[in-house]
Amino acid sequence: MGRKRKAQPVVPVVKSRKRARKIVTQFHKVNDALAILEDDVNLTLVDKEARRSRLQESLNALGGRAAYQSASQLSVSFHSTSKWVLARLQAMGIVRMQTAPSLSPSQPSQKPRLLEVGAITTTLLDCPAVQTTAIDLLSRHARIQQIDFFHLPQPPLFTFDVIVASMVINSLPTASARGDFLRRCHAFLEASKGHLFLILPSSCLTHSKYMTVEKFRSLVTTRVGFAVVEEKWTPKTVAFVLRASGKCVDEGRLTAGRKKVTSSSWAKKFDILL
Ligand SMILES: C[S@@+](CC[C@H](N)C(=O)[O-])C[C@H]1O[C@@H](n2cnc3c(N)ncnc32)[C@H](O)[C@@H]1O
Repeated sequence: MGRKRKAQPVVPVVKSRKRARKIVTQFHKVNDALAILEDDVNLTLVDKEARRSRLQESLNALGGRAAYQSASQLSVSFHSTSKWVLARLQAMGIVRMQTAPSLSPSQPSQKPRLLEVGAITTTLLDCPAVQTTAIDLLSRHARIQQIDFFHLPQPPLFTFDVIVASMVINSLPTASARGDFLRRCHAFLEASKGHLFLILPSSCLTHSKYMTVEKFRSLVTTRVGFAVVEEKWTPKTVAFVLRASGKCVDEGRLTAGRKKVTSSSWAKKFDILL
């Protein structure tokens, strides 16, 4: 008698761009609601648990993180951020596509060390001119390490020349996690005065209750210690190339945009707490 095969988890494949957009938007909305719920001190534990499980159910109904990543993969296939990043690194002279092979195994690699956070494709891993570490909370590929960015060993154990974080900062659950994310990126890049490629939906800066483009720029430059090298705007996204050239100011927490800049009901709640 043949041995029974173990059931494999079904990975949802999203094929329609419209459906992909819907899943990504809904996933962020429910996660935002979960974060607000956790901070709510007026609810009883029972009410909190009931609401939490309802929100969790709606995440499951969407297909969970696997469906969210499948949706992101579809979007990425239409506009490859990784290719743009490689082109910029080449133009900036940081990456040479024809890297000379090491003369001996003991010779340190001259390739820039790149960290990709929220990796769902292997484009950067496949580039021979960079030494890429690709991570994600839920890995969809054997070469993408399944690890939380916030659990990576801190400098000087880990340092990088380049960090790529596309559509990650907006998917973090709280404003303080976003602040912490920027600080940690800066710490990883400080020794090499390296670059952070930060891509996010433009509406986070143009249609947020708490954030404006000016506030964001001022925050990353005066508080986190980055210099803005480049900005690339499209109708839906904005890409920042930031250089870790200054010092991170650590004077306790400061709300970057807690003061409402608009009260419109359609505005996003995107905020960064440092
Ligand atoms: C919207 S997707 C973006 C994927 C891809 N980078 C892109 O540009 O389309 C966000 C990704 O970030 C990952 N992510 C979110 N928080 C993370 C964390 N703390 N550590 C590692 N990955 C994280 C998610 O699992 C998800 O795959």
